[in-house]
Amino acid sequence: MPNNQLADDQASGLRQMKKQMVKVISITGGKGGVGKTNVTLNLAMALAQLGKKVMVLDADLGLANCDVMLGLRVERNLSHVLAGTATLDDILVEGPFGIKIVPATSGSQNMTELSSVEHASLIRAFSELQTAVDVLLVDTAAGISDMVLSFSRASQDVLVVVCDEPSSITDAYALMKILSRDHAVEKFKIVANMVRSLKEGQELFAKLTRVTDRFLDVSLELVATVPHDENVRKAARKQKAFIEAFPTTPASMAIKTLALKAAKWPLPVNASGHLEFFLEQLVQPQSE
Ligand SMILES: Nc1ncnc2c1ncn2[C@@H]1O[C@H](COP(=O)(O)OP(=O)(O)O)[C@@H](O)[C@H]1O
Ligand SMILES: [Mg+2]
Repeated sequence: MPNNQLADDQASGLRQMKKQMVKVISITGGKGGVGKTNVTLNLAMALAQLGKKVMVLDADLGLANCDVMLGLRVERNLSHVLAGTATLDDILVEGPFGIKIVPATSGSQNMTELSSVEHASLIRAFSELQTAVDVLLVDTAAGISDMVLSFSRASQDVLVVVCDEPSSITDAYALMKILSRDHAVEKFKIVANMVRSLKEGQELFAKLTRVTDRFLDVSLELVATVPHDENVRKAARKQKAFIEAFPTTPASMAIKTLALKAAKWPLPVNASGHLEFFLEQLVQPQSE
């Protein structure tokens, strides 16, 4: 494809995308096993129950991805969209309560290291999306890869899931340090997960803010305290989200409270409320 054709396609894609105002929230944590995928999927369903049209971008290439966790059958994923053999609507998988899941690319495909043709495909794919979306949740991978940093930088809200373990706290701290120092992300919404009491959640938050207040220029807000709840694992064994299998279990109640808050988080009034801004941020390497 000649270069000017590519640029034209991208430009028309971006113009169309201006129509969609989408709230983009990424779910991070630094460490694996802290509950990112569980928070993402259950929050998605809780928001859907509040009437929001929710799409989940599964950017976690680990083993327990969203489709596996929900026992959904996935035939194609983002790599097919990037290759131009499927549209985004083709690959969307519908989950409980009508949430739409964009299955992760398999293997080593890194969304921040795309060729220019793949960039164009991705932007065009989102611009041609027929499915209406109010909220896009991005389930990120463990670690502090370029991909995690890009998604966080491009999102309007960054949720950091932590649990009361030294390694979770240090990994969350390291993630916030890099995001604030190198990527101008200064606000973080903390989800204390797997806590034994409300008090433990508040103490965990206090531990985190003691170090961030001292060493980083960031502001943290505790947005949810999710109790350790045996029904989370029970639901996982049934390949169901806990909010569906056990709607009134303590973890579900905590996620529903979070959804009520998240539904009210304002959309920015400037360009960053548009899906196009998210994608531009995502695919454009930060020049430093
Ligand atoms: N609130 C909770 N109570 C009990 N177990 C939990 C809770 N949140 C997550 N888990 C369990 O912790 C493990 C990791 O969760 P997962 O969402 O896959 O984490 P991540 O996506 O961060 O790797 C899973 O076995 C899950 O069932
Ligand atoms: Mg995960």
